[in-house]
Amino acid sequence: MKLWSGRFQKATDQMMDDFHSSISFDKRLFAQDIKGSQAHAKMLFRQGIITKADEAAIQEGLKEILCDMEAGKIDFPADSEDIHMLVESILTERIGEAGKRLHTGRSRNDQVALDMHLYAKDTCDETLSLLREMEELLLTLAKKHAGDVMPGYTHLQRAQPITLGHHLMAYFEMFKRDMIRVQHAKEAADVSPLGSGALSGTTYPLDREFVAGELGLSSVSMNSLDGVSDRDFLLDYLSAASIGMMHLSRFCEEMVLWSSLEFGFVTLDDGFSTGSSMMPQKKNPDVAELARGKTGRVYGDLMALLTVMKGLPLAYNKDMQEDKEAFFDGRDTWLKCLHIFTEMLRTATFRLNTMHDSANAGFANATDCADYLVKKGVPFRDAHAVVGKLVAHCLTENCAIDALSLDTLKEFSIAFESDVYDAISLKTCVAARSLIGGPAPERVLAAVDKGWAWLNQ
Ligand code: ARG
Repeated sequence: MKLWSGRFQKATDQMMDDFHSSISFDKRLFAQDIKGSQAHAKMLFRQGIITKADEAAIQEGLKEILCDMEAGKIDFPADSEDIHMLVESILTERIGEAGKRLHTGRSRNDQVALDMHLYAKDTCDETLSLLREMEELLLTLAKKHAGDVMPGYTHLQRAQPITLGHHLMAYFEMFKRDMIRVQHAKEAADVSPLGSGALSGTTYPLDREFVAGELGLSSVSMNSLDGVSDRDFLLDYLSAASIGMMHLSRFCEEMVLWSSLEFGFVTLDDGFSTGSSMMPQKKNPDVAELARGKTGRVYGDLMALLTVMKGLPLAYNKDMQEDKEAFFDGRDTWLKCLHIFTEMLRTATFRLNTMHDSANAGFANATDCADYLVKKGVPFRDAHAVVGKLVAHCLTENCAIDALSLDTLKEFSIAFESDVYDAISLKTCVAARSLIGGPAPERVLAAVDKGWAWLNQ
């Protein structure tokens, strides 16, 4: 018998039950649902709406259901419609009459909104702690590699020398912005909609602020229609997740490239790689590829929920039940990817000599060579042309600029002197880029210090 069946003449069709039941996915809200009910019952008693005895029975019953659900002792039968109905019917089964008073002054519309607020807030905390772990690892690695030269790229062509520490700190900045976005999503989740009722509040003298306080939520929603129909806080999280996955996916792409024989910049730990069933030599960067691939499904989750919400009239509509699978999938995917990628990075080995040689062989110091000539009085455009010719020469000779003798260099410009070798050494090139945000080792170390200060503020 359905809890709402009073006005119905016959039972719902089995097909109908299967179609609208959400228990298969909203069962994961059981703890939030029960905690919300505990706070609601406590408030109902404080406001004189239910008796002390009823409240005590409800609290005791809910506590036991929570324990049993945590212990896996309760099934979530497919015909129980949703988690709210299931908890309430088990409660009434166990404690009788008092169980039927729990839902006084409440609708499943504000109840489910509250559950999602609580769940999303916890999710934000979990995400922040995984992002923090990633950030701590990046700061540690960046400090270690502040002076290790590698080529920086544009168009995936070797461009100018940077350091590995500098490169890693770029990701620190991206994940820092992700943390700020998740923090914002957390603030949006940190609101209690309970008391919005089905749509227009309730005539009972509820104490909304008390319930919010009991649940550790900072404020109550300001409009009952909005309270039950707002899912922005889930969209805030899914947007943050989409951008966060985009960042992670770029990092993945670099790990895929860097672990190839062609680059050889990194060796991934065997524990985070896979082999091929046919080709014995293969070691594949599956973690990075899968995380890159899963980015699409998180974007999909965001699009799904944005599309569910567009065009919905106020206030609650059953369409909104679709928020859950999108949100759950988006958060599960982001958390899983963040976690495993961090461990893959922690166990990876950077091949510093290969990075260094690659910067050397790729004319990454060509700009510095032109700047050297400028300092000797050659106009920049002329210097650019001179070094361009030098590079063409080196390409036919298959050597680096600084492998040429001073006599040969002088054939290209008489401005070259013996101090050119030091001026265009990779170490000098990197050290000279010492503006705020630059790759000079001392700048990277300063950025690392700032990074720690930000994380620990
Ligand atoms: N399972 C529903 C959901 O997730 C709960 C709210 C149902 N409200 C209603 N008026 N039918 O949205």
